[in-house]
Amino acid sequence: MDKATLTRVLDDIHRAAMLAEDRGKVADYIPELARIDPGKFAMSICLPDGSQYSVGDAQVEFSIQSVSKLFTLAIALGRYGDRFWDRVGREPSTFVFNSVQELEARQGIPPNPFVNAGAIVTTDSLLVGAQPKETLAEILQFVRLAASDESIFMDPSVAQSEKRTGHRNWSLAYFLRACSNLHHDCELTLGTYFHQCAIAMTCEQLARCGRFLAGFHPTGGLISPAHVRSINALMMTCGHYDGSGEFAYRVGIPSKSGVGGGILAVLPGKASIAVWSPGLDAHGNSLLGTVALEHLSNALGLSVFSLGSDR
Ligand code: DON
Repeated sequence: MDKATLTRVLDDIHRAAMLAEDRGKVADYIPELARIDPGKFAMSICLPDGSQYSVGDAQVEFSIQSVSKLFTLAIALGRYGDRFWDRVGREPSTFVFNSVQELEARQGIPPNPFVNAGAIVTTDSLLVGAQPKETLAEILQFVRLAASDESIFMDPSVAQSEKRTGHRNWSLAYFLRACSNLHHDCELTLGTYFHQCAIAMTCEQLARCGRFLAGFHPTGGLISPAHVRSINALMMTCGHYDGSGEFAYRVGIPSKSGVGGGILAVLPGKASIAVWSPGLDAHGNSLLGTVALEHLSNALGLSVFSLGSDR
């Protein structure tokens, strides 16, 4: 990747983002997130040679929310291997990310580990033989190792906020329990899940976190190459929920979004990219974050579906 071109494209993206009028809508079903300034924007890219390029508010912390589902899935696959898939599917979803209807239609087997129901089951699987505090410590340790940064933390006020207002997740958890696909009390599993979603990170930290999925983490060995491949495939097909097809069409990079407005995108062997803009589109994915990744992908020919000469 040509560094001069990369720097110029990042500056163009930043400038366009600052001027954008339609910035989407900040998530308000978690009151702590409703307070975030929709004017924020950041992008950061890590390359295999250890260099990192950033623009905008790349050192401002935000709530990673559903991006955390990547890390719990990575831990669960390491612990259970293919047995994990007895409880969760690997298909894209048709309805919104917190749909009860979709879970009911599938008799309590969530379509994939990235919709809320699938992520709640994933967290439930990590609680086997452990107290919530231990599971949360395990998740935090994984994330800190991935980012090479011991300062990453969970924001208790965001977790508490969601605990009070995340009624959809309570419905999903009780329904999973009714289908025998939740092995702990709803309170216990959701308490853990809300804290995992409340991990705060800067865009720079998040980009560094993605290096293990792009295949160039400095120490390596966080998860097996086979699991990297599995997770990247799921990011491409399910990482943006019912907007995943459109995202693959426009951007073409395996990615995972969160309602905090963050997106982590990974190109195996080439780059780990984080973007943050708090305003969301109708599917709950960062509106300007998607626009920014589309711009980057087009300008540098990064779509995995591209022949590199599609401009
Ligand atoms: O469970 C929830 O609703 C949130 N903690 C996370 C959802 C989320 O980030 C969806 N992503 N776009």
